[in-house]
Amino acid sequence: MGKGGLEDVVAAQSAICDVDGTAGRLIYCGYDIHDLAEHSTFEEVIYLLWNGQLPTKSELEGLNKLLRTSRALPPAVIEAMKKFPKEAMPMEALRTAVSMLSMYDKEAEEMDKEANLRKAVKLTAQIPTIVAYIDLIRNDKPVVAPREEGSLAENFLYMLSGGTMPNEVAVRSLDIALILHADHELNASTFAARVAAATLTDFYSATVAAIGALKGPLHGGANQEVIKMLIEMGTVDNVLPHLQKMFANHEKVMGFGHRVYKTEDPRAFHLRKMSEELGKRAGDTKWYEMSRKVEEQVKGDKGLNANVDFYSASVYYMLGIPIDLYTPIFAMSRMSGWAAHILEQYANNRLIRPRAEYVGKRDQKWVPFEKRQQLEAANK
Ligand code: COA
Repeated sequence: MGKGGLEDVVAAQSAICDVDGTAGRLIYCGYDIHDLAEHSTFEEVIYLLWNGQLPTKSELEGLNKLLRTSRALPPAVIEAMKKFPKEAMPMEALRTAVSMLSMYDKEAEEMDKEANLRKAVKLTAQIPTIVAYIDLIRNDKPVVAPREEGSLAENFLYMLSGGTMPNEVAVRSLDIALILHADHELNASTFAARVAAATLTDFYSATVAAIGALKGPLHGGANQEVIKMLIEMGTVDNVLPHLQKMFANHEKVMGFGHRVYKTEDPRAFHLRKMSEELGKRAGDTKWYEMSRKVEEQVKGDKGLNANVDFYSASVYYMLGIPIDLYTPIFAMSRMSGWAAHILEQYANNRLIRPRAEYVGKRDQKWVPFEKRQQLEAANK
């Protein structure tokens, strides 16, 4: 038995993504995340993850066309979403709506590669619509039809605002955030997706398994906990006393630490820069300054580095996105990575079925109910 939590266990071969935790390097299909964040678009990265190579212009146009024309939701799913409880967590609503989609897809149970690729396109295009509609519906606003133009990031912000075109800075900021969150090797949600896919269940079921895993605060749920902590701290001066209290109570500081990275998470570099730039543009660098102070302190006292969730929190806050949508936005991006891994798993499948080391009792003698009660009483 190793260190628990499958630490350092290699559970699959994959050609999609590699994390070098010692050097702090992340590559998607051989391309450094820094190059992709600086030069690519999210759609280009989706193509890369699904095909193992960057697209030509016409290949990208082909994928863009498919994604843009797949954004609308089946009317029955929209009607069902209107009946969800208003106070439902967005991740609960997302998980439920994605599960519903399979019942309105005639190909849901088709297992050939082309049909599964079509499902990858549909889910990647429809999840942003679901996330925007969750927010519109709970605020009693009319749903806005998706545009069949523009990037996924632009259309999402357009729908979320109720139909106002977003500015270019907001679109590019979200686009970079989507690139940075797209894949991360065998993280918990991707592993959940692969375990489900390996039973040869359908694409939607594997995606629902992944969404359920992403929701947890130790995984995708961390980003919204970060901004709640910053809001509670309130000022730069309050950072230190607040952290000291957390350390004294042995509380984890969300957005710090990582199972694989022993040095800085390369994704944090870009998000830190964006957090600063967005703050400067808005004339409000408070959230960036507080984040810097938290980072210095946690690094100094605990030796822990900020992970992807730490600075994405202040970036989304500066973009005016409601806090409980941060994790669903992570899902919007990671859908592309889940899809790549589900397709890779189907292409070379073997059931994933590890063993447990049994540490329970053995050789117990079965006794009837009356005697069990007597034994219980005798043991009291
Ligand atoms: N704040 C304070 N202490 C932390 C910490 C954090 N964010 N992350 C790890 N530690 C400490 C643990 O308390 C533990 O200390 P101990 O050995 O004295 O008990 C030690 O570092 C190892 O942590 P552990 O939780 O066992 O590491 P892990 O590899 O199992 O967990 C995470 C990795 C990401 C789950 C963990 O760092 C964490 O919970 N971070 C906060 C949540 C988060 O940001 N998640 C998003 C990840 S991208």
